[in-house]
Amino acid sequence: MQIKYLNRLSIHKLKGKTALLRVDLNIKAGDIGDVYRLSAIIPTLALLKNAKVKTIILSHRGRPNGPDPSLSLKNFAPLLAKKIRAKVAFIPDYNLKTIKEKIAKTKESFILLENLRFFEGEKKNDMVFAKELASLGNVYINDAFAVSHRANASVEAITKFLPSYAGLLLEKEIKSLHKAMKQYKKPLVLIVGGAKIEDKAGILQYFLKKADFILLGGGVANTFARARGREIKESLFDAKANIEKIKNRKNIIIPEDNVWKNDMIADIGPKARTRYVKIIKKAKTIVWGGPMGKFEETGCKEGTRAVWRAILKNKRAFSVVGGGETTASFSLIKKLKVKANPHLFLSTGGGAMLDFLSGQKLPGIEALKK
Ligand code: 3PG
Repeated sequence: MQIKYLNRLSIHKLKGKTALLRVDLNIKAGDIGDVYRLSAIIPTLALLKNAKVKTIILSHRGRPNGPDPSLSLKNFAPLLAKKIRAKVAFIPDYNLKTIKEKIAKTKESFILLENLRFFEGEKKNDMVFAKELASLGNVYINDAFAVSHRANASVEAITKFLPSYAGLLLEKEIKSLHKAMKQYKKPLVLIVGGAKIEDKAGILQYFLKKADFILLGGGVANTFARARGREIKESLFDAKANIEKIKNRKNIIIPEDNVWKNDMIADIGPKARTRYVKIIKKAKTIVWGGPMGKFEETGCKEGTRAVWRAILKNKRAFSVVGGGETTASFSLIKKLKVKANPHLFLSTGGGAMLDFLSGQKLPGIEALKK
């Protein structure tokens, strides 16, 4: 079954209808990288605005156990309003019946509901809750790639009750990630960093035979370095990682030198930087998830910065970059002006991107095929 894309629907068919638009506003205040998530949903909102479709915006934020004012979505209403140049009403309510009454009385075309994880049924993928939520509109649009790996009520169960479509951002995510996985050109280079190998095991496995080079950084590299008999002192590594069978694979490259801080590896070293940059320069497809070091600390940015620079410079390659921490590292390369372009796709997904690139089926995407 094919995914139904909003893009292919004659948008005028939605005129007079109410759309439920699921987005991912799981954004920490002051996190520059994640503000990208906000701008990434604007094209779908603009499309609905132009088509004069009343739109109820749905999102989660954080992992609350019940209502928690610090995780309210309230402040996102003015932020979104500014971006789409339209009024966005906010309904601070946790009762779907009264929410329904309030929606009927609201004249604004855009209405943001409170954090869906304040409702009990959301994380449980509860059918009753999903049905009630669905009754607020006539059509459902998923533009929340970043949470599509979660079988939550507003992501999966809701699609059972409404005609459901993939929004413009979700479409871009699916197609760009698919391109890197299936239509890649060689040399294919996978770059994997970050703290835990556990999160990256799937992507390493998927690309193990396909990638010409797998460049490692962060805790992932330390785990391999230790398994290869190198001294890593107090550095972070994953004791549970099962890499015995793959630890000596020739295409897996670990940094030959490192930047150390208090007996801990904090970044890849200058020799590794040079080698990694050389490999990235020749790549035709690049997939990157996870920073090379503790980029938020002074003196530990250079590895991640060098990788960014090399990717931005390589205009012959198609690159996909994502994962929570990697996009958060945008801030350190502000001067490099990272912007998505035909050569570079910036995924809004953290766990969702890693799951997708591991070849897993994402419940939120599968649900759109039904
Ligand atoms: C994310 O930030 O990766 C998504 O919003 C999913 O959040 P979760 O891991 O709390 O489900």
